[in-house]
This record gives sequence, C-alpha cells and structure tokens, in this order.
Amino acid sequence: MFPEEGLGKDDVLRELEELSKDDFDPLSGRMWGHTYYSGLTDVIEIVRKAYVMYMDKTMLDFTVYPSVLKMENDVICFAREILKGDEETVGNFTYGGTESIMLAAKAARERFRKEHGKSAVPEIVLPDTAHPAFYKSAEYLGLKAVRVKTDEEWRANGDAVSEALSENTCMVVCSAPNYPFGVVDDVRSVAEVCEEKGLWLHVDACLGGFILPFMRENGEKIPDFDFSLDGVSSISADFHKFGYAPRGASAVLYRNSGLREGQIFVMSSWPGYPLVNTAVLSTRSAGTLAATWAVMRHLGRKGYTELAARVLKVRKRLEKELPEIGLEIIGKPEGSVLAFKSDIVDVFLLAGAMERRGWYIQSQPGSEKLGYPKCIHLTINPGHGRVVDKFLSDLRASVEEVKGVKAEYDVERILSDIQGALGMRPGELPDDLTPVNELIHRLPPEMVEQVLRSMINEVIFRPSE
Ligand SMILES: Cc1ncc(COP(=O)(O)O)c(C=O)c1O
Repeated sequence: MFPEEGLGKDDVLRELEELSKDDFDPLSGRMWGHTYYSGLTDVIEIVRKAYVMYMDKTMLDFTVYPSVLKMENDVICFAREILKGDEETVGNFTYGGTESIMLAAKAARERFRKEHGKSAVPEIVLPDTAHPAFYKSAEYLGLKAVRVKTDEEWRANGDAVSEALSENTCMVVCSAPNYPFGVVDDVRSVAEVCEEKGLWLHVDACLGGFILPFMRENGEKIPDFDFSLDGVSSISADFHKFGYAPRGASAVLYRNSGLREGQIFVMSSWPGYPLVNTAVLSTRSAGTLAATWAVMRHLGRKGYTELAARVLKVRKRLEKELPEIGLEIIGKPEGSVLAFKSDIVDVFLLAGAMERRGWYIQSQPGSEKLGYPKCIHLTINPGHGRVVDKFLSDLRASVEEVKGVKAEYDVERILSDIQGALGMRPGELPDDLTPVNELIHRLPPEMVEQVLRSMINEVIFRPSE
C-alpha cells in the first residue's frame, strides 16, 4: 500500500477523486445530518480562500502570528455579542464542540478541586439527551456523569436537576438544543437552581448557539438560554455548525475570566519553549479560525438572520407535512433539528429507501431498555430550501415503499455471531447498516457500547492490504 516510489500529482488527485466517488457530497443538499450547508456560493468561496490562506500557520504559540491572536479574540467577541455576554465574558477558539465541552468541564473540575480538595470524585449532572461529549469528558477527566431524566417532551428542567445534585456536583448541563430531538432545555429554571446553590451551569449551545438567536430575530419565540441568565457560567457554541465555518471550529465562553482559569495549561519546566495551551489540542492549523473570522465578517447579523429564516421555512414545512404521511415529530423542536418516529413504517427501512433515492437521513436507534424511541434525525440547513420539494416527494414514495414491510433480518442469529452475520471485513463498514441500528435499539446500552468499542478496535479501523 505504501508506495516505494511516490505517485505524480495528477495521479494522486485522480486516486482521491476515485476514492470519494461513493461518498455523499456534503454541499449537495442531499444530506440531512453531518453537514451544515449555507447554500451560498460566496460563503463557500470565502471560507475556502481564507482557509487556504492560513492553512500553513499554526495556533500552537500565540506569540508567533499576531493576526492569529487577533482573529481568535475577534471571533470570541462576535460569539459573546450573539450570546448576550458582556465585556467580562471571555473565551477561546477550539477545534470542535467536544473540545469546548471538555475544556469547560476541566475548568469546572479545577474550581471544584480548589473548593473541595482532590479526594472526592466530582460529578457532572446532565439531562439524558445531553451529547456524549460530556461522557467522554467525564471519562477523560475522571468525573462521574449523573443522568437526569427529561420530561415527556425531552426537556430538562430545574426540578429534575435539583434531585440529582449532591455535594460533589461540579457542573450542571443544559442543551440548547439537544442533538437527538432539537429540544431546548428549560435553561431558565435550571439556571435559577444553579445560581441559588452557587453551582456551575454549562449550556451546550454547540448546535443552537449561532442559529437560535437569529431565529429570534425572525420573530420566533426562543426561550432564554444564554448569558442573559445570571446562572449560566459557560457556553459551548460551534462555528462549524450554524456558523457555516469549516470543520474544526468552535468556541468555549465563560461569564468571566475567573471561571476560565482552570482551562489553561502552562508548562515551562522543560528545556524547550514555555508551552501555553488554551485548548486541548496544541499544534493546529489556523485555517479554520481564519475561515470562521471571514465568514462571520461576511455574513454579519443580517446574513445569519436571513439564513435562519430559510431554515425556519423548511422546518415549518416539515412540521406540517411529515405528520400527513404518518411520521410523528418528537417533542417540540425549537431550532434547526427535528426527529420523527412512526407507527406505520420501520424508520430504519425508510432510511434505507431514502438512501436508494440519494438522500442521507440519520437513523437514531434509541434504546428499548431506556425508553428512547427508534427515530430519524434531520438537521435542516439553509441550502435545503432548494431541495425540500423533491425531498418530500421522495419521502412520500419511500413511506409507500416500506409501509407494511417487515425488516428481513434475524436479530437472534445476528446476536450469536455479530461480526460474521453483519458481514464485516477489516477496514470496511458493513454493507447494510439497517440491522446494526436494530441491534443497537434492542441490546442493553452497556452491551452496545462494549460491542461497538470492540468492533471499532478489532475490525473497522484495521488497514486492509
Ligand atoms: C448538542 C451538541 N453538543 C456537542 C456536540 C459535539 O460537537 P463536535 O462533534 O463538534 O465535537 C454536538 C455535535 O453534534 C452537538 O450536537
């Protein structure tokens, strides 16, 4: 595989083209998940040019490139204005939501340790709909995740959170909105509890930070979820989602610099230069930062508000038309994400039927044991306005195609030999993800996690000859 003699430029680029031929195109409007597509040619062009312009500069050491430091402070300033911070609000650019969340969790842990010492295991109290990035952070940072059950509309509130608090709580989490269903937690009531008890409240606005405020500008009633609520200590918000920046761009914000202290890593007792990291990653390209800066300068408040209007229009259409074809919307989505389940079709088969028609919609297997429904997640992009008619007609046709069809797979047999039954080969995904989703739905979550971990380790990430 590793060539003895390198290939020519054209040959390598041709190989790349060939490699990507079975991939979805993230800018085609065909994907309703895993992409955030503005649909604007100028935005795409500016982002790409700015990215390439700064691609070779690093964010490793803020003393090296003054423009990189300036851009980081600028984009944090844009974010704090959008999220109703003030001149005390500080923050940093990171490479993604997970990194922003992990940094806030570390800052909260350090503050907890300062106040309580190091012997207790600090706890993060989080709604059951919160993103796995919090569990990952807990695993990395030695914290205990304590789950709070959301209400029947998948919304966490202050009462439910109160019951889960303990003397070891170091951070409370709300989502604005949550990823699975697009529901915004009752941040106000949770913030009141946290303020009263002097607890750290982190609002995960990775998904909504750069669209909910602009939906509000379009007249939507969006509940407060940001620094306008006194009880909010920190916020994560992803530029690489509805900021329309390229992947590798997020912000972590703190109400004041005192709260950020524990985020920063400094090491000067080695023979090299003093290492100062505000992020988890150290060396990283400044390309995504420059692209973020450029797209925000280009779009401004007006541009983001117009894009949010496009998303709203598509969401309202889906909210009206999906129930007409037997697809039931879950909870009350308030942002740019919605999920649906169905009594009349197997939604995993529906996802397969849509894929055959060239659409990506995301199966969420949920969990029978935990009471989480099998459903389909849709992330709505402004670029979907152009394709929504075709999407809906294909969805109608797909519903008709799979109505009354029973999925043809034997879960018991699959269970007996997961790898063989799924036809998994080293370095490849199974040909059909439908039974995998069914399996995840039926198995206890602990088993799912164990199986997925082992499949990823032993099979999928294995180079084949
Ligand atoms: C609500 C929420 N939080 C956190 C994350 C994690 O973000 P990232 O994938 O950028 O690390 C996501 C990603 O989809 C998200 O939707």
